[in-house]
Amino acid sequence: MDFKVADLSLADFGRREIRLAEHEMPGLMSVREEYAAAKPLRGARIMGSLHMTIQTAVLIETLVDLGADVRWVSCNIFSTQDHAAAAVVVGRDGTVDEPKGIPVFAWKGETLEEYWWCTDQALRWPDGGTPNMILDDGGDATLLVHKGAEYEKLGSVPTATADDPEEWGVILETLRRTIAEQPGRWTETAKNVKGVTEETTTGVHRLYEMHKAGTLAFPAINVNDSVTKSKFDNKYGCRHSVIDGLNRATDVLIGGKVAVVCGYGDVGKGCAEALKGQGARVIVTEIDPICALQAAMDGFQVTVLEDVVDKADIFVTTTGNFNIIRADHMERMKHQAIVSNIGHFDNEIDMTGLAKIPGVVKTEIKPQVHEWRFADGHTILVLAEGRLMNLGCATGHPSFVMSNSFTNQVIAQIELFTKTEEYPVGVYVLPKHLDEKVARLHLDALGVKLTELTKEQAAYIGVHQEGPYKPDHYRY
Ligand code: NAI
Repeated sequence: MDFKVADLSLADFGRREIRLAEHEMPGLMSVREEYAAAKPLRGARIMGSLHMTIQTAVLIETLVDLGADVRWVSCNIFSTQDHAAAAVVVGRDGTVDEPKGIPVFAWKGETLEEYWWCTDQALRWPDGGTPNMILDDGGDATLLVHKGAEYEKLGSVPTATADDPEEWGVILETLRRTIAEQPGRWTETAKNVKGVTEETTTGVHRLYEMHKAGTLAFPAINVNDSVTKSKFDNKYGCRHSVIDGLNRATDVLIGGKVAVVCGYGDVGKGCAEALKGQGARVIVTEIDPICALQAAMDGFQVTVLEDVVDKADIFVTTTGNFNIIRADHMERMKHQAIVSNIGHFDNEIDMTGLAKIPGVVKTEIKPQVHEWRFADGHTILVLAEGRLMNLGCATGHPSFVMSNSFTNQVIAQIELFTKTEEYPVGVYVLPKHLDEKVARLHLDALGVKLTELTKEQAAYIGVHQEGPYKPDHYRY
């Protein structure tokens, strides 16, 4: 088996944590049980690009139990948990000397070159074949396939994405090399992929853009906008892991500090609530009047970054947008202000601009925590080099919330793989009855008792007794 991880001897530790996580992931475990005999993913060759954590290990082994042949990478250079990667490679009945699990290409602290090499490796099957399904988080695997196919079709360099020029250079190099090795491979891959299921807001945004531009090559399910994903993982997951990231990185006392949360969408709401819960005075920035009003009604001061940049102690960007905290903002910050991003890509904080400030010096305090000293002697602390701090400095979201997200992922994979003809090229969300099913699978574990509608009540509010209980436009 081909694979590349940091250290296979970590597999036992990983397996012990996977065992604990399984208990906390009732949705995934019940999907395993439901489909154990039918194996609806038999024949599926799933390439996954999603943070290689303990929770993801439970997702991967669920896909395998449903019959899929899987290859995996992380979707961020810092987010891999090396013990999880090792355990997945060794597998449930393999050993370090004879691994019998799943090919994983991921380790914590990849370079950008290694990151795109890993993505390429997971997109090629040992028999020379291609995947027929992609499970993506942020859209990098989808991007590589689309840009590769575009390159082959044009016979020249495809149009650049808006992302970091340095990273685009690495992507182009990866494409040049792979096209020289195996001409036509990306066109073939784009043709063979029946669909992609996309995990996060940023990746979904890319999919809708491609569909609008008429360049989307295969159908996609937007997993992010299942209610049981974005209203849970993005909000309650970040409510947990933003504090975990700050604590593990700096252990600074949060109570009494001034914290700025940029963006008050699902992730921003979770972060602001968590920081408030720790006793911080939280200030929110927003561009959307609805979200700004929500923040104000939730009791937060809402203002522009410029007004508070020299007064706050902790900054967290949550926008999925770019250039939120600029170099000139960072220059004006208080001594030892903490600067972090929990949005998907690292361009929310202008790290390139920071490095270009005359006289600025970067010192590593420990991996993923850097002190930047300005010419006048004052410093700021930047977490995870501007990449998502909850996965770079801590272990991301806990299992229970990821069980919701990943149950949606598995159901979406089954939908696209088994009902391909029902999904022409486009971007879809899962039907509401499946969203409700995911929630239902998590109630028992929390001791929730659900009230049952009477026939008369159901008729009165115009729904079926067994659901769905809300119209599609309901916002939760
Ligand atoms: P969202 O769209 O619900 O929220 C983003 C908010 O930022 C919006 O309300 C928008 O109006 C606001 N915004 C945009 N530009 C802004 C600006 N210049 N200044 C202030 N506010 C601005 O998106 P969601 O679901 O909250 O996701 C945000 C990001 O977090 C995405 O990149 C997503 O992929 C990522 N994400 C990260 C997770 C993690 O574990 N680190 C988990 C889930 C999502």
